[in-house]
Amino acid sequence: MILEIKVLGAEHLEDVLKIEEECFSKPWSENSVKELLLSEKAELLGAFDGDRLIGYSCLEWVLDEGSLTNIAVSDEYRKMGVGSQLMAALMKTAEEKELAFITLEVRVSNLPAVNLYRKFGFLDVGTRRNYYDAPREDALLMTRYIK
Ligand SMILES: CC(C)(COP(=O)(O)OP(=O)(O)OC[C@H]1O[C@@H](n2cnc3c(N)ncnc32)[C@H](O)[C@@H]1OP(=O)(O)O)[C@@H](O)C(=O)NCCC(=O)NCCS
Repeated sequence: MILEIKVLGAEHLEDVLKIEEECFSKPWSENSVKELLLSEKAELLGAFDGDRLIGYSCLEWVLDEGSLTNIAVSDEYRKMGVGSQLMAALMKTAEEKELAFITLEVRVSNLPAVNLYRKFGFLDVGTRRNYYDAPREDALLMTRYIK
């Protein structure tokens, strides 16, 4: 696999939605993804195997506060380092934008994601009771300090 990480634009809407639906019980709506792809306060990074989008991440920010709102890799490409490459590229963007920190929420049972975040220096900072539904579950809150 020749992996390439690129910033996504409106032309990638359908491909992002396909991965959303594959990976999440409550996928983002078409409108939310469209807005994010056009936003100047968000960056979606895509991982490509040739022309095929196989994963993406989303970083949003307000002033110097970042929020990692999503990361997903197509099932058949998991455990091959794609998520790590997306995270590394996202951290680079966060540094370039001079963000002070990045926060995120993740299902407490989502070990692959929690482990990935820990690998990139995110610390556990709290929980939010019953934050998710379908199925109902607590969120673990994590923060990565940059400055
Ligand atoms: C989380 C996710 C993006 C990881 O992507 P990936 O490409 O498989 O990740 P990588 O291969 O780069 O693995 C990086 C690290 O993640 C962790 N990890 C990945 N898969 C794991 C698994 N099945 N079990 C435990 N840890 C795992 C490990 O720490 C791994 O590091 P290591 O290879 O040094 O052990 C992927 O599993 C996914 O898309 N999950 C569904 C969507 C999702 O839940 N996103 C998070 C929303 S908050």
